[in-house]
Amino acid sequence: MDQILVRGNGPLNGDIAIAGAKNACLALMPATLLTDQPLTLTNAPRLSDIRTMTQLLQSLGSEVASLQDGQVLALSSHAMSSHRADYDIVRKMRASILVLGPMLARDGHAIVSLPGGCAIGARPVDLHLRALEQMGASLELLDGYVHAKAPSGGLRGAVVDFPLVSVGATENALMAATLARGTTVLNNAAREPEIVDLARCLRAMGAQIDGEGTSSITIQGVDALHGATHPVVTDRIELGTYMLAPVMCGGEVTCLGGRIELLESFCEKLDEAGVSVTESERGLTVSRQNGAVKAVNVRTEPFPGFPTDLQAQIMAMLCLADGVSELEETIFENRFMHAPELARMGARIDVHGGHARVTGVERLKGAPVMATDLRASVSLILAGLAAEGETVVSRVYHLDRGYEKVVRKLRGIGADIERIREPAHE
Ligand code: EPZ
Repeated sequence: MDQILVRGNGPLNGDIAIAGAKNACLALMPATLLTDQPLTLTNAPRLSDIRTMTQLLQSLGSEVASLQDGQVLALSSHAMSSHRADYDIVRKMRASILVLGPMLARDGHAIVSLPGGCAIGARPVDLHLRALEQMGASLELLDGYVHAKAPSGGLRGAVVDFPLVSVGATENALMAATLARGTTVLNNAAREPEIVDLARCLRAMGAQIDGEGTSSITIQGVDALHGATHPVVTDRIELGTYMLAPVMCGGEVTCLGGRIELLESFCEKLDEAGVSVTESERGLTVSRQNGAVKAVNVRTEPFPGFPTDLQAQIMAMLCLADGVSELEETIFENRFMHAPELARMGARIDVHGGHARVTGVERLKGAPVMATDLRASVSLILAGLAAEGETVVSRVYHLDRGYEKVVRKLRGIGADIERIREPAHE
């Protein structure tokens, strides 16, 4: 398995281009299953998760062409050869469950493997299934697969009250509702920018949707959707990640295409820590000349609260803050696996259940560390950039799921970082 080698190299300066959002693209791609017309996605990120979703859709019979070095995806699903999403793909990427709603809505049946858990938590999909049942689907669990059928007249509109905010369940129900008979209302819906982006794409395909971005979304079902061309929204998590590089190392970095509205709560936290973020038509600029940031307390919440996907990264920043910070992870039950790896670099972190207390230290020291999940992997890279000496991050396949060209982008702002390719097996 490849490794990434990072050496602390002082202040970082320059521009970083922010890609399209992985978590938007993974919901937008299954929308192709709602129509037999072509769907084109531009500003798509080049990531292994996108390739996995491509494989899944192709296994169902969709045509997916990756154009312009992967930045454009041309999808077409007019002749489906299968309605079965196999476990061997679904277990690699949980977002595969997002083909269930669209297949059920357009073709009336689907067989989708349950995704199983992952490193950060059990991550059940009961809310996805309950919403589809409320829309008339009959679901049966057999051999780890959900066998789903819509009524002969198709799914019907329903009022779905989500007991807790779920991004994926909101996306599955939103897509299914676009072709259901009648009106669907999703209450306690997720409000993430990726939901807004999906709604905008579905509307461009002819869907009738109101309220995206609020906690109540209303959808009037239509008979059919047509094709569209849609630009994937900027990745707010990649954006927030790279904003922390100059905070931890010093220097001035502009994240091209960044907008404060994508991550207001994150920017408020940076402001509280004494870090100024300026917005221009080029993007978001973060500069830090000297002195430690102030310790701050962080509690992850559904959007517009502080994003759980930036918790590992801000923890890395707080390891060097002046004072003690309290972090509370409320979304996933096991999302502090980066803490013991950061401790190997000299960080002082006490974890108790969903709480972590971080006591800032003067310096971190490079060390061999192991990536455990996508966002943990990049928090170790950030720590390595700021540490004295050399850090070697192993299991970087986690990183490739959500960060395109991370070595090139960081070298572009002066980081001393390289990828060590595992020698090919003879
Ligand atoms: C999406 O996951 C993102 N993934 C995650 O990003 C992100 O951390 C998460 O939303 C929260 O923002 C994609 O969009 C592909 P949820 P999702 O349903 O939809 C529980 C990354 O690093 N829950 O909002 O799976 C669940 O266990 C990834 O890019 C149920 O109990 O998240 C969790 O505790 C990691 N039943 C909470 O809700 C359900 O049916 C929020 O999960 C669904 C979820």
